[in-house]
Amino acid sequence: VKKSDVVSEILKDRLYVSPKNKIGEAYAPTNIALCKYWGKRNQELNLPVTSSLSISLADKGAAVSIKVNSVDQVILNNVILTPDSGFSQRLFKYIDLFRIENSIFFQINIQSNIPIAAGLASSACGFASVIKALNHLYAWELSNRELSILARLGSGSASRSIVHGFVEWHVGKRDDGMDSYSELIEKEWPELCIGLCILNRDEKKISSREAMQRTIETGSLYPAWPAKVAVDLSLLRQAITSNDFELLGRTSESNAMTMHATMLSAWPAISYCLPETLVTMQKVWKLRDEGLSLYFTQDAGPNLKLLFLKKDLHFVVEQFENVEVVNPFR
Ligand code: PMV
Repeated sequence: VKKSDVVSEILKDRLYVSPKNKIGEAYAPTNIALCKYWGKRNQELNLPVTSSLSISLADKGAAVSIKVNSVDQVILNNVILTPDSGFSQRLFKYIDLFRIENSIFFQINIQSNIPIAAGLASSACGFASVIKALNHLYAWELSNRELSILARLGSGSASRSIVHGFVEWHVGKRDDGMDSYSELIEKEWPELCIGLCILNRDEKKISSREAMQRTIETGSLYPAWPAKVAVDLSLLRQAITSNDFELLGRTSESNAMTMHATMLSAWPAISYCLPETLVTMQKVWKLRDEGLSLYFTQDAGPNLKLLFLKKDLHFVVEQFENVEVVNPFR
């Protein structure tokens, strides 16, 4: 099954209509996984080995507008990218899936307020906002489930960035991935805060795609990962239903540490930690020993995301320099 087969299956004859609107506009929040997606069972369609669960980051994300243009062009945060830049190439390869006539070109204007490729899920909100903007431009009127499947073709974690709030991405069983989509968990938790600890803004040296694949192929600890995810997913669902913050924090931190352990067991080993990552982790552990309810999670990059409750906001901001606080349910 190819990406283009999935696109034709979802859009059917709608793929052949021309843009109904002059401009397609959309916003998508980025998301942070509390139970991670680590490993693909199908690399072409970004089908995961396990389900995963995330929280969307409200106003941290990407706003996109797309219009028909005389040439293909990407403007990222007010800078026109050269057509051969990696970002532009990856984006237009995705756009090509929805372009049946070669004579139509687009200008894509992206305003993103998160660092690109520093493990802060920029591709998640990037592809999610682009598919939502195309949906608007062409007036396809796709459901969130369909948008999630199409966003996944750009990047796995993008499937979780269609909506705000807690989201579960169902692993699915089918080869065409029609049952591998994300869904909102209908529960708000207004006291929950996420602190983005940006420790380094450099682009990562190894992509999550490459790191996942190497972990699956060589990681001696990877076989234990699906069972760990099954347990953590059920604990997280329980924590969310019962507003149990300790359970949410503990499960999220342990899940991230285990994901990184599978990477450490790969050859050559992969570590996204920098010295400042370890210093910050130890600081979290020390504060927790002293009684603070504070946890972290880490993705494919050196930056940490802190998890805490609103009552501790002032203390956390005082303790961590440059922490940017997001309230997902504001
Ligand atoms: O969707 P990708 O290819 O950017 O992979 C995301 C992988 C992690 O961020 C490490 C985990 C996750 O579930 O978001």
